[in-house]
Amino acid sequence: MRAVTVRPPQPGSLGLSDLPEPEPGAGELLVDALAVGVCGTDREIIAGAYGRAPEGRERLVLGHESLGRVRGAPADSGFTAGDLVVGVVRRPDPVPCEACAHGEFDMCRNDGYTERGILGRDGYAAEVWTVESGYAIRLDPGLARVGVLMEPTSVVAKAWEQVERVGARAWFAPRRVLVTGAGPIGLLAALLGAQRGLDVHVLDRVTDGPKPALVADLGATYHTEEMGEVTAALRPDIVIEATGAGRLVLDAMAGTAPYGVICLTGVSVSGRHLTVDAGCLNRELVLENNAVVGSVNANLRHYRQAAEALARADAAWLERLITRRVPLARWAEAYAPAPEDIKVVLTLGE
Ligand code: BGC
Repeated sequence: MRAVTVRPPQPGSLGLSDLPEPEPGAGELLVDALAVGVCGTDREIIAGAYGRAPEGRERLVLGHESLGRVRGAPADSGFTAGDLVVGVVRRPDPVPCEACAHGEFDMCRNDGYTERGILGRDGYAAEVWTVESGYAIRLDPGLARVGVLMEPTSVVAKAWEQVERVGARAWFAPRRVLVTGAGPIGLLAALLGAQRGLDVHVLDRVTDGPKPALVADLGATYHTEEMGEVTAALRPDIVIEATGAGRLVLDAMAGTAPYGVICLTGVSVSGRHLTVDAGCLNRELVLENNAVVGSVNANLRHYRQAAEALARADAAWLERLITRRVPLARWAEAYAPAPEDIKVVLTLGE
């Protein structure tokens, strides 16, 4: 079978490998891949800045945004052939730390976790893959074209849960959310905000392409002005930051209404220096009881929340997030970013 692989941390090592089909172990599903999504983390791994091959191996099968169809499942697994499934990315550290022991491997405390297609475990950018049935999520059969958006949606479902749990430390009835960045994470965060009945605003740099209409079709408002202007006018109760851009992160912290919750989801590069009035920022956070929370990855609960959110969403809207579908035969094109991309998907089957 064919699989997209890399040799971390060597930059430029991306290639197509011919590998033996995996054999399912006890309790595992055998899955024919349909598609795999490409994201910034894949590009970081390709650039040699992140990622780790499985123990004792040089190459890592890439891909953590999966979608496949079950070919074979153990009788007591709860899955049957033909089910549409997504594989979970992270596995608990083997110790396990107390968070992992509680099923909250997304909150691992000792960094000993592994992640499929990222850290120490083969990913899903292969024509066939296996997954433990306990780390597989069944999707509504109607999501065959867009179910590849599950993993980024799980990340966003977790971010929303964090916002709501942090908000719940006192009386909290948010009305307005500002999402910064109209990439897949930002747009899916806006979708989940709209599903919550909030007044949703999205800020991005681009003025053309598909993003403004995608935001408008959620009943949300698209902004391209300076962040400071937008927050001064809106005073959002919640900011979900999905760019990782230092200036926006700082402006988000300073720009909410009192009792604001700022959730940071973007991974930024280090080494960029900005001048900050630290006293002013601290004063703002303290005097307004604001909270800043970082959020990464997702556990099984968040995947289930994401599956529900996708099943509730307008499938035609979700489809428009996928701006390019690249067949495996032209795999390299999927990893070369183009200006109007939102989500690029490598198609592996059907
Ligand atoms: C993935 C997460 C993962 C993170 C760090 C993101 O792209 O969506 O599941 O935890 O990268 O490796």
